[in-house]
Amino acid sequence: MSRCWFHRMGTAPTGAHEMTVIEKCRLLASFSEEPDYITRTFLSAPMHDVHRTLRQWMEPLGMRVWVDDAGNLHGYYPAAIPGGKRILIGSHVDTVPNAGAFDGVLGVVLGIQLVEELAGRKMSFGIELVAFSEEEGVRFGVPFLGSRALVGTLDSSLLATKDKLGITVAEAIQAFGLQPENVMRAIVNPEEVLGYLEFHIEQGPVLESMNLSLGLVTAIAGQSRLELIFHGQANHAGTTPMNLRSDAVAAASAWVCQVEQTAKATPGLVATVGRFEVTPGAGNVIASEVRASLDVRSAQDNLRLASVTSLIEDANTICAARKMTVSCTQLLDQQAVFCDSGLVNALAAAMSRTGHQPHRMVSGAGHDAMIMQQRVPVAMLFLRSPGGISHHPSESVLPQDVDAAVHAGLAFLDSLEANHG
Ligand code: HGY
Ligand code: MN
Ligand code: MN
Repeated sequence: MSRCWFHRMGTAPTGAHEMTVIEKCRLLASFSEEPDYITRTFLSAPMHDVHRTLRQWMEPLGMRVWVDDAGNLHGYYPAAIPGGKRILIGSHVDTVPNAGAFDGVLGVVLGIQLVEELAGRKMSFGIELVAFSEEEGVRFGVPFLGSRALVGTLDSSLLATKDKLGITVAEAIQAFGLQPENVMRAIVNPEEVLGYLEFHIEQGPVLESMNLSLGLVTAIAGQSRLELIFHGQANHAGTTPMNLRSDAVAAASAWVCQVEQTAKATPGLVATVGRFEVTPGAGNVIASEVRASLDVRSAQDNLRLASVTSLIEDANTICAARKMTVSCTQLLDQQAVFCDSGLVNALAAAMSRTGHQPHRMVSGAGHDAMIMQQRVPVAMLFLRSPGGISHHPSESVLPQDVDAAVHAGLAFLDSLEANHG
């Protein structure tokens, strides 16, 4: 799908009412840092287009729209009586490189759809939509920068984190036209919030294998993210005998095989090396350095932490045998999170009332809900991922599953009204 398929077809619908949820997601996907595929990282230029478009969709529905100083866009749909509590509905609007069109943005666009379906009806509570500025951790290596601002953990050390160009998070916020010194103003007061609901694609094969439209998330797996640097010695590929080499690629590759072997042998654990950067990266030079990412996930925190420890030990053992060294930086240690049982049960009842089996499942993917849970009760509703694929341009959702999510979401709001009205 080219990035400007609307514009190319000359049929770019304008009003929110003219576009389906899927069309809206695909329009947002056209706002990218790259000409021919979807990449949108923390507060990059295309994020201005996303904000402008979300505002165009939100304001006609009677929502007050603002952007906090971490770059999160908020849309508030007022309660029938001012001063009531509010429900937060949101997800992230940044993407991984060469992404699909639905990871993250679907959760925001579905929130807009729910408000649109209310057709002016006011609840006893407000509805605040949140489009988080950054969840994937692509630009700075640390994920959840947007939702961290709402729970008060976007602290000075995170604001000082630098990207590959040496630009800090604070400088990126300033460049976007915001004030990093005010990020703490975004913190939510739990007393004012009924909870946080996130719609998200499953990003895996489970719902499709069960032929279900929707899934009910009970927990989100914990995740560790690290960077390991394997220190070798650059030398000539043709003149250096094999027994005299300190080859960073050879050492790091032996370790990557060990990572895969460990994860395959450990039920309930997944481990991934997704980034592998070789220096100097010339075919006729023995590598002096490899920077490798490590992403380890499990619903069992003790298993995850023990596995990380053993994989770091493996890296040290492999390097010691080659008279090399390896250094390791921890970028994230996020505990597994349980969704709020009251909200989960209310969502389960809403799914049943709207004709959908409330299949309970654990999320292997991380989500903003796991950060929001630090301050407010959270719940998540998954939509089926056709082909079980995500973090890839062929990521998709089915129109009937979008309809199912809207109906279940409206039933959930009705049940909140009944309980809190
Ligand atoms: O990596 C994840 O779990 C999510 O897609 N950010
Ligand atoms: Mn993602
Ligand atoms: Mn996501």
